[in-house]
Amino acid sequence: MLNFTYDIPTRIHFGRGEIKALSGELETCAKKVLVVTGQGSVKRNGIFNDVVREIKKAGIPFVELTGIKPNPRLKSVYRGIEICKAEGVDFILAVGGGSVIDASKAIAAGAKYKNDVWDFFTKDVVCTEAVPLGAVLTLAATGSEMNSYGVITKEDTERKLAFGTPLVRPVFSILDPEYTYTVNKYHTSAGIVDIMVHIFEEYFSAPPTAVVQDRIAEALLKVCIKYGPIACKKPKDYEARANILWAGTLALNGLLGNGKSGDWASHGIEHEISAIYDITHGVGLGIIVPNWMKVVLSKNTLDKFVEFGINVWDVDKDKGKEKIANIAIEKTRDFFTALGVPSKLSAVSVPQDRFRDMAKGAIESYGQVGSFKKLSEEDIVKILTFSL
Ligand code: NZQ
Ligand code: ZN
Repeated sequence: MLNFTYDIPTRIHFGRGEIKALSGELETCAKKVLVVTGQGSVKRNGIFNDVVREIKKAGIPFVELTGIKPNPRLKSVYRGIEICKAEGVDFILAVGGGSVIDASKAIAAGAKYKNDVWDFFTKDVVCTEAVPLGAVLTLAATGSEMNSYGVITKEDTERKLAFGTPLVRPVFSILDPEYTYTVNKYHTSAGIVDIMVHIFEEYFSAPPTAVVQDRIAEALLKVCIKYGPIACKKPKDYEARANILWAGTLALNGLLGNGKSGDWASHGIEHEISAIYDITHGVGLGIIVPNWMKVVLSKNTLDKFVEFGINVWDVDKDKGKEKIANIAIEKTRDFFTALGVPSKLSAVSVPQDRFRDMAKGAIESYGQVGSFKKLSEEDIVKILTFSL
C-alpha cells in the first residue's frame, strides 16, 4: 500500500429531513451567502424553497447565481466570482449536482485570486485561499460533495479540465436521498455508471496489496449492482436512493483511492469527448469503459480482472482465467446497457472524425493517460473506435 494522509473534514448530514441542519451550519460560518443553482430543477421540485427557509431561519442575507449548465462553463464561474466580489460574499452554498458544486468550487477559488481562475486548471499555480463552501446535493454521481476537485469546461478552446485543492472541499454537505427522487432515469443511470467508474479507476490500479481498499471497492460495486436498477425502476425507493447516494460519496472521497495509484484513463478520455460534444459525463463513461477494459486486458492485468469477475460478478472461479476476465467485461457492459445508458458514441451523436484530436488532447492534459496500463495515442484511438 502507498503512503497517504487521510483528512476529510466535510461534515455529512445524511438522511430524510437533514436540511434542518442547514441553518445551524450557516449561523456558524456565514455572513452573506451566494446560493448557486443549476437550470431550474431545484426550483421545480421544492428543494430551493427548503434551502431559502433555512437561510431565513439563520437570518443571513443571500444572493443567487442560477443557470449553471451540466458540464459547467468557465463563463458562469466568472459570473459567480464577480458576484462574490461585488456583494462581499463570505460563503458559497451549492444546491444541485456535481456541475453546480464544481462551478461553486471554482468560484470559491477564483473569488480570492487576483488573476484568472483558469490558471488553477492550466498552470502550476497553487490555490492559497478560497471562500468556504457547503453543498446541498441533489444527484448521486460525482462525489464532489466530499472531495476537493472541480471540473470546468472552457467552451471556446474545447478544454474540460480538473483542478483540486483541499481549500474547496465542502465544509459540510447535506445528503437527503429524497432530494434525488426527481432525478430522471437518464441522469440516475448516468450517475450510477459514474459512481461505478470512480471505483474502477481506483480498483484497477497498483499496488495489488492495498487489499482494504479493494475489498471495500468490491462491496460498493455490489451495492451499485443491487440498488442501481431499483433506483432506476422505482425512483422513490428510499433505500435504493440512500444506498446509491452514500456509495457515490464514498467512491470518490479518498477512502478507496488513498494508498493506490489510480488509473483515471477513462475519465481522461471522457472529458475530451464531453469538452467537444457536451454529452452527459456518466453516459460517456458507460460507453468508453467496457472498451477500455478490452484494450487493457493482457497477461499483466489478467489477475485483477479475474478478481473482479469472481468477487464482483460472481463468475464461477473454475472457468479459467481468460474466460472469467472476458465474462466480467461483458457483464459490466450488459449491466450498463440494462440501466438504460446508450452504449455507442454514435447513439449520442459523437462522430469519429476527431478521435485523433481527443487522443492527443487527453495526453496533453494528463501527461500520462492511465497507469494500470499506460495508454498510447493509438490505444486511445482504438478505445474510441471500439466505442463507435
Ligand atoms: O441543472 P439542473 O436543473 O439542476 O438539472 C440537473 C442536470 O440537468 C439535473 N438534476 C440534478 N439534480 C436533480 C436534477 N433533476 C431533477 N431532480 C434533481 N434532484 O441533472 C442533470 C445533471 O446534473 P449534473 O450536476 O450535471 O450531473 P452530475 O452530478 O453527474 O455532474 C456532472 C459534472 O461533474 C463532473 C463531470 O465531468 C460533469 O461536468 N465531475 C466532477 C467530479 C468531481 N468534482 O469530483 C468527478 C467526476 O468524475 C466528474 O468528472
Ligand atoms: Zn466521473
